[in-house]
Amino acid sequence: MTGPDYTALRRRCADALQAEDQFGAPWVREVFEKVERERFAPARIRVSDPGGNGGQEVIDYATDARAWANAVYAPDRSLITQLDDGATLLEPGAPGRFTSSLSAPRVVVRQLCHLDLRPRHRVLHIGTGSGYDSALIAERTGARNLFTLEVDDRLAATARRNLDTAGYPDVQAVAGDGEQGWPAGAPYDRVLCTASANRVPRAWIEQTRPGGVILTPYRGLALPRLVVADDGKTASGPIVDAMSFMVLRGQRGTEAADLRPVVKATLSESERVRTDADLSPVKTELGAEFLYHVLVPGTRLVFGEETWWLEARDGSSWAAWKPDGRGRQWGTRRLLTEAAEALTAWKAAGAPGLTALGLTVDAGGDRVWAHEPDGPSWPVP
Ligand SMILES: C[S@@+](CC[C@H](N)C(=O)[O-])C[C@H]1O[C@@H](n2cnc3c(N)ncnc32)[C@H](O)[C@@H]1O
Repeated sequence: MTGPDYTALRRRCADALQAEDQFGAPWVREVFEKVERERFAPARIRVSDPGGNGGQEVIDYATDARAWANAVYAPDRSLITQLDDGATLLEPGAPGRFTSSLSAPRVVVRQLCHLDLRPRHRVLHIGTGSGYDSALIAERTGARNLFTLEVDDRLAATARRNLDTAGYPDVQAVAGDGEQGWPAGAPYDRVLCTASANRVPRAWIEQTRPGGVILTPYRGLALPRLVVADDGKTASGPIVDAMSFMVLRGQRGTEAADLRPVVKATLSESERVRTDADLSPVKTELGAEFLYHVLVPGTRLVFGEETWWLEARDGSSWAAWKPDGRGRQWGTRRLLTEAAEALTAWKAAGAPGLTALGLTVDAGGDRVWAHEPDGPSWPVP
């Protein structure tokens, strides 16, 4: 029996992405068709749902090579390859934090488009993972111009092997904490992070030449494209896409605690509040959702049918809100008050969509703005 026809699968995937107009420039499709994604996927993968959620199905190459190959070339599926930094085995349904994956082809090509790579650009890539993105970048810039860092030693070793066997031995791939950048390769024309940052490391700005671009998923939801200023110390730019990634290892928050027992125990002593602010755009408008997470950090939202719950991940506070404006809050933070202020600020700024927002990073820290850098803005706590 013959094995999967990877060339045909790759072309079919590229055609599907082309039909969605995902290749912003011809070179993106060219590199996509050149790199053999199957060489970077491990024999056992856990496949995400199209929305990037859950991810229960585990597929082994050894038992079902065809399903494995189809998953590798599904345009909208990311392939989870590691849980809990390797501490939890990749079994079906095993609970655990996703800590490494091959991003879905659709996400990968969109990042490449926004990066606007040119031949011979020097690139710093953070989050090597399997090495797949690195190979795509190397096809465009030349392998010697790419420096890629992976924080997990075992993943870094596997990526090295993958890159060697797939024909990219000259990519400079090492194990290390990408938040520090890689000064030896600087200055860079492009910095790409394929993990999500909660704050942009200063090292990335210092190691990028003025006019160079830093592209990083940010705060779990947004993809800002920052251009480094002439002073070499400031980077600023608009959010160009919605993109959700796993958080950089050193910037992870606590896993959200189950607050149901806390709510039960503290309901009677919680403070009753009434607010005129409409929180509902948090569920329907990405701009509102993003600004909520920036201004009310460290929380998660649980949308019940009649009541929405705002929960501090560390378990210290909670709030409940009903669309008629009634609510309750309890704990060290006044979460409903914080959320109402965030939504009021968003509305006062003209209810900007996600891509009408932007980010500036300078000596004062990170600052999110609406419409333009001099528009309404909010320091990121
Ligand atoms: C979504 S995966 C990247 C996928 C990868 N681009 C690929 O093509 O397979 C994110 C990766 O970032 C790595 N990572 C997280 N924090 C990091 C850090 N501080 N420095 C370098 N790599 C990091 C994770 O270990 C994980 O492998």
